[in-house]
Amino acid sequence: MSNVAKDMELAELIARLNTKFGKDLSSYRLNCLGRRISLRMSMLRVESLSEYFEYLSSNREEIEHLLDTVTIHVTEFMRDAEVFEAVARDVLPAAVARAARGGAGAIRVWSAGCSTGEEAYSLAIVVLEYLRAHPAGVGLEVFATDISREACRVARRGIYDRRKLDRIPAALRDRYFESVPEGVRVAPEARRVVHFSVHDLFQPPRYGNLDIVVCRNVLIHFDHVVRDEVLDRFQGALGRGGVLVLGKTEAITGAAGSLFQLADPRNKIYAKKCSALPRGGKR
Ligand SMILES: C[S@@+](CC[C@H](N)C(=O)[O-])C[C@H]1O[C@@H](n2cnc3c(N)ncnc32)[C@H](O)[C@@H]1O
Repeated sequence: MSNVAKDMELAELIARLNTKFGKDLSSYRLNCLGRRISLRMSMLRVESLSEYFEYLSSNREEIEHLLDTVTIHVTEFMRDAEVFEAVARDVLPAAVARAARGGAGAIRVWSAGCSTGEEAYSLAIVVLEYLRAHPAGVGLEVFATDISREACRVARRGIYDRRKLDRIPAALRDRYFESVPEGVRVAPEARRVVHFSVHDLFQPPRYGNLDIVVCRNVLIHFDHVVRDEVLDRFQGALGRGGVLVLGKTEAITGAAGSLFQLADPRNKIYAKKCSALPRGGKR
C-alpha cells in the first residue's frame, strides 16, 4: 500500500475513534501515531486497521491501551538535573517573594503531562528544599496532570523501584522517600503537596495564577497548531512573573513567540510576557 493510502486509512481510523469513543487523536503527529498503532497491532497480531477497529469496538479497555501506547510515558526523577537547579536558583527567589508579599500565599506549580509522577515529585522536593533553606512562611501546591488514567494511578500511589532514585542525592533520598516492601514510597511531606488528576491538554486548564508550568517532552507529540493553542493556555494560566519550562529539545517558535520570552536558553525556561491587560485579573 502506498504511503498516501496508508495515511488516508489512518486518518479514517482516527476519525472513527473520535466518533465512537470521543478520543481525539487528530492533533498528534501522523507518522508517530502510525508507528504506535502498528506496534499495538503487532502485539495483538492484528493485520489491518479495519480489523484493529473491530477489536477496539469489542474490547473496551483497548482504547486505554492504545492511548497509553500513543502517549509514551518515559520519565525519571530529576530528569535533566540542571533544569531543576536552574529553577531553584533563578525562578524560586522571585516566586517565593511574590507569594510572601500576599499573592497566593503558596508557590503554585503545574506539571502538565506528568506521566507516572516522577517530575511532579521532583519539583515538590526542589521547592520544599528551597523553602527549608529560605523560610518565608509560604506554602506549596503542585498540580500534576496527565491524559493517561493509568499513569495518574501509578503517580498517586507514589511507589517506585529503588533504582529510580539513582539521580537523587542521598540526603534527599533519606528525607523524601521511605522503604516499603515493593521498593520506595514518596514520603508524606512531598505526597501531601502534589495533587494528581487526569486532564487532556487539549481542554482548557483548571488552574490559574501559577508561578511555574512545567511541560516537558509532551508538546513534541502535537502538531504545531495545537502546540500554539496549548502554549496560549499556559500563558493565560501563569500569573505575572510566571515561567514555563519545556523539555531540553523543545522550543517556542513562530506566533507563540509573542507569549513568552526565552529567559534561559540552555534549560528552556521561558518567562511569561505580560500583555497590557492581564486576563481575568490574574497577578
Ligand atoms: C514523555 S512523557 C513526559 C513526562 C515528563 N513530563 C518528563 O518529561 O519526564 C509524555 C506524557 O505526556 C502525556 N500526554 C500526551 N498527550 C497528552 C495530552 N493531550 N494531555 C495530557 N497529557 C498528555 C503522556 O500521557 C505522557 O505521560
